Amino acid sequence: MTGRPEPGPGPAPGASEVAVAEPAAPPVTGRRGRVLARTRLDFWLDALLLVAYTLAYSLGFTGIATHEWLGIGLGAVLLIHLTLHWDWVIRTTRKLLRPGGRERFIWLVNLLLLLSMTLCIASGILISEVALPQLGIIPPASSFWRQMHDTTATVTLILVPIHAALRWRWIVGVARRLAVWRPGRSR
Ligand code: HEM
Repeated sequence: MTGRPEPGPGPAPGASEVAVAEPAAPPVTGRRGRVLARTRLDFWLDALLLVAYTLAYSLGFTGIATHEWLGIGLGAVLLIHLTLHWDWVIRTTRKLLRPGGRERFIWLVNLLLLLSMTLCIASGILISEVALPQLGIIPPASSFWRQMHDTTATVTLILVPIHAALRWRWIVGVARRLAVWRPGRSR
């Protein structure tokens, strides 16, 4: 879920003090075009989610124990991610009351993604074979939750690239700025 404005071309390094921002949305860069700490956190957290999800999906590669603990960790990161973007959720939900618009579509994709990922993690916990038994909890065997886990993992897999594509300009813009910016280097 992304709550960020897309960075435009922005000021030339060291040339301007103007922040790249949409009205009523948090800026991506601060003074001198440096990437804000909050934007960096968003970016790396998103990257972490993507890598963790890809690994969690590759059950044959990770093995069941790593799969389960990784999936549980992913649930925690997802919660942080959602908390960080809560302002965006509120803003766009208000906008949903107005007709049409790209933001409406983005909101729907994000909502579906949130639901499918949450269901995937929850159903995974309900069919846990290693993590929960290690904690002394034996979940009852259920083919319903197993099927749910399989389906929501696939739905999530389809939605993740759409989610990233809808914010592609933001991702490329921040990645480019991070590639040229070095902490402590005056620009
Ligand atoms: C977003 C996170 C997750 C993704 C993308 C994911 C994905 C998958 C996929 C693709 C499969 C294979 C399904 C199949 O072969 O039919 C699977 C199986 C499984 N997952 Fe997950 N999973 C996630 C989280 C979890 C969590 C949190 C747990 C438990 C704590 C878990 C436990 C299991 C179990 C027990 C299986 C069945 C393994 C087997 O059939 O031997 N998963 N998962």
